[in-house]
Amino acid sequence: MSTSPQTFAQRVLAWFARHGRQDLPWQQTPTLYRVWISEIMLQQTQVAVVIPYFERFMGRFPTLPDLAEAPLDAVLAHWSGLGYYARARNLHRAADQIREQHGGRFPTALDQVQALPGIGRSTAGAILSLAAGQCHPILDGNVKRVLARHFGIEGWSGRAEVLAALWRVSEACTPADRAGDYNQAMMDLGATLCTRTRPDCVRCPLSDTCIARSQGRQRELPAPRPRKPLPERATLMLVVINSAGEILLERRPPTGIWGGLWSLPETSAKTEPEQWCQNQMGLPPLRVDMLAPRRHTFTHYSLMIRIAAITVETTPDSIADGEHLRWLSVAQASELGLPAPVRKILLALAR
Ligand code: ADE
Repeated sequence: MSTSPQTFAQRVLAWFARHGRQDLPWQQTPTLYRVWISEIMLQQTQVAVVIPYFERFMGRFPTLPDLAEAPLDAVLAHWSGLGYYARARNLHRAADQIREQHGGRFPTALDQVQALPGIGRSTAGAILSLAAGQCHPILDGNVKRVLARHFGIEGWSGRAEVLAALWRVSEACTPADRAGDYNQAMMDLGATLCTRTRPDCVRCPLSDTCIARSQGRQRELPAPRPRKPLPERATLMLVVINSAGEILLERRPPTGIWGGLWSLPETSAKTEPEQWCQNQMGLPPLRVDMLAPRRHTFTHYSLMIRIAAITVETTPDSIADGEHLRWLSVAQASELGLPAPVRKILLALAR
């Protein structure tokens, strides 16, 4: 089932009448100044956190001229704890700009509001719809999520064409009258029901026409920023097997990846296993078998592990000193703390 923009807006407004937030401090006497301050505070910050800051801020800077005349330090002091302090510096600069360019009155034209420091298209639309009854679409993170899911808009919103598609849908759905209530409702829906990880579709007024829901793709939409491919590194791990069937393990240095864990000896991926055996063990291998390579993914790189099984004819004592090198049976080795891929290699070997 699809839905027209009108029906969409009607359902959002009907939900707002029953479930929307309508008693927030900035909603009492929603002047341009108060709504502006609240919208800036609400960027990246949840309503419950903002409320006490908003009350203190209004106590100290009750009007726009109070803010313009205050020293920056006083503004920053009232922001202390909210984070993202560029927001406070921009507020102070904007207040100054409003005094210079607009006679101290908050502008009511969208382009003039958008020209103020710290205010983008969405925040400008929110302020003018919530405080001046104007009709402008908004597109903050919450609204993007609701629209991308409901209309099945694919792609990451950091891409220009995806963002443009989201704005088009937002514009089409924003009702000419009650745009303020509608915008507030969309932000509330995104913040309370259509959440990123656990959308509460059962309570959502839009669920029966939601494309993400009908396809079970709430987790996939909106699409996240595409991951850059991880840089690749390579290593050669050596499974050295002695005449007793034991395997040589080496303790890794205390810092770095797998710090302090027992692991297989490693060398540059370009090394020939025969060469390594001669250099490190001081004797030629009886045989060398290349095993299937494995890939292991870390957060910041991907490690391609070449694996050589080397059989040597040597007694345990001639190599291992106990401190950093040990001959162990596979069973003994698996009792130790081993890196995950090493554990898998030994497991595969035991089979
Ligand atoms: N986030 C940004 N603006 C908001 C608002 N007006 N209400 C709730 N959350 C918001």
